[in-house]
Amino acid sequence: MNVLLTGSSGWLGRYLAPLLKAAGHIVTGLDITQGQYTTHIGSVVNRKLINELVEDRKIDAIIHSGALHKPDIIRFPAQSFIDVNVTGTLNLLETARKFEVQKFIFTSTTSLMIDRDIREGNFDYAVWLDETHGPLAPRNIYGVTKLAGEHLCRQYAEAFDLNVTSLRTSRFFPEEDDTMTDPPAENLKANEFLNRRHTVRDSARAHEHVLDHMKSGYAMYIVSAPTPFKVTDCADLKTNARSVIKKIYPHAAGLYAAKGWRLPQSIARVYDGTLICRELGFEYETDFANILDVIRKDKAMPFENDPNYINPSTIGAN
Ligand SMILES: NC(=O)c1ccc[n+]([C@@H]2O[C@H](COP(=O)([O-])OP(=O)(O)OC[C@H]3O[C@@H](n4cnc5c(N)ncnc54)[C@H](O)[C@@H]3O)[C@@H](O)[C@H]2O)c1
Repeated sequence: MNVLLTGSSGWLGRYLAPLLKAAGHIVTGLDITQGQYTTHIGSVVNRKLINELVEDRKIDAIIHSGALHKPDIIRFPAQSFIDVNVTGTLNLLETARKFEVQKFIFTSTTSLMIDRDIREGNFDYAVWLDETHGPLAPRNIYGVTKLAGEHLCRQYAEAFDLNVTSLRTSRFFPEEDDTMTDPPAENLKANEFLNRRHTVRDSARAHEHVLDHMKSGYAMYIVSAPTPFKVTDCADLKTNARSVIKKIYPHAAGLYAAKGWRLPQSIARVYDGTLICRELGFEYETDFANILDVIRKDKAMPFENDPNYINPSTIGAN
C-alpha cells in the first residue's frame, strides 16, 4: 500500500517506517523536522499540503502518529495542541474522505483515560483500564486534544464510511519520567511492563498489524504489554503489589534483588492491552516475563532507556 505516515521523524516513526517498508509498503513520511524516514517536511495543520501529498502519492492508507504530546506541554501553548492534535487530525480525515483513502490509523494515548483522581491514586484499589472505561475526563491539554482526535475519527468513520482505528498506546518513550525519579529510570521502566508500558517495537508492530487486519468502520484498542494481573487482584495491587507479583513470579524478587532493583510496593492502575490480541490476532513480543528472563540471562533490556533523548518537536521549536 502507499502509506502516509505523519510524525515520521519521531520516536515511533523511526521504528514504524522501516517496519512498514519491510512489509512491502511505500512510505511517505511527513514531519515538521528532518528524519531518516521523512520524505516531506511540513505540518499536518497545512491542509493544502496534505491534499497534494495524498493525491500525488496515491495514498491508500494514513497512519497519523505526528502530534504534540505530554513532554510538549511545557513548551507549547494550549492553542498549539488544538492546532496540531485536533485541526491536524481533522485535516487528515477530510483529506481521507475527499480522496477515498481506504484505511486510517490514529495513534492515540492511554493518557486520555487518566483523570485527576486516577492520577492522584485516590482509590483504595488499582483502577483497571480497558476499552470500556469511562466517562473520560482527561487531566491535561494533551489528553483533551487526543480525545477530541479520537472523537473526530469515530464520527468521520460513522458519517462517511471510513475505516478508522484508534490505538491508545501506553508508555514507550525512552527518556526519563518527568515526575518520578525513584526507582531509577531503567528499574522503573522494567516495573511498568507489569501494568503500563510496552516496547516501541511492539507499538510499531501493532500499527503495522492493524494496517492488515483492521475492521471496517471504527474501532479503538489499547496497546500495552499484556499484564499478568487479573481484575480480582486490584485491591491487593494497591495495598501490597509485591505479594501479588510473588504469587505469579516467585523468583522475581530474587532476580530484582541481585540487580539492586525494587519491585513496586503499590500499583494504582492497570492497562489491559489484550483486546487487540483477541479481536485482531496481534501478538506482543515483550511482556514482564521476558524482562525477568532477560535479567536471569544477564542480557540487555528489550527496551530503550535514554535520558538524553530529545523529542523532535523540541528541536523544531528551537
Ligand atoms: N512516547 C510515548 O510513550 C507515547 C505514549 C502514548 C502515545 N504516544 C503517541 O505516539 C505518537 C508518537 O509519539 P512519539 O513518542 O514518537 O513522539 P515524538 O515527539 O518523538 O514524535 C512525534 C512527531 O510528530 C512530529 N510533529 C509534531 N507536530 C507536527 C505537525 N504539526 N505536523 C507533522 N508532524 C508533527 C514531531 O516533529 C515528531 O517527530 C504521538 O501521537 C503520541 O501522542 C506516545
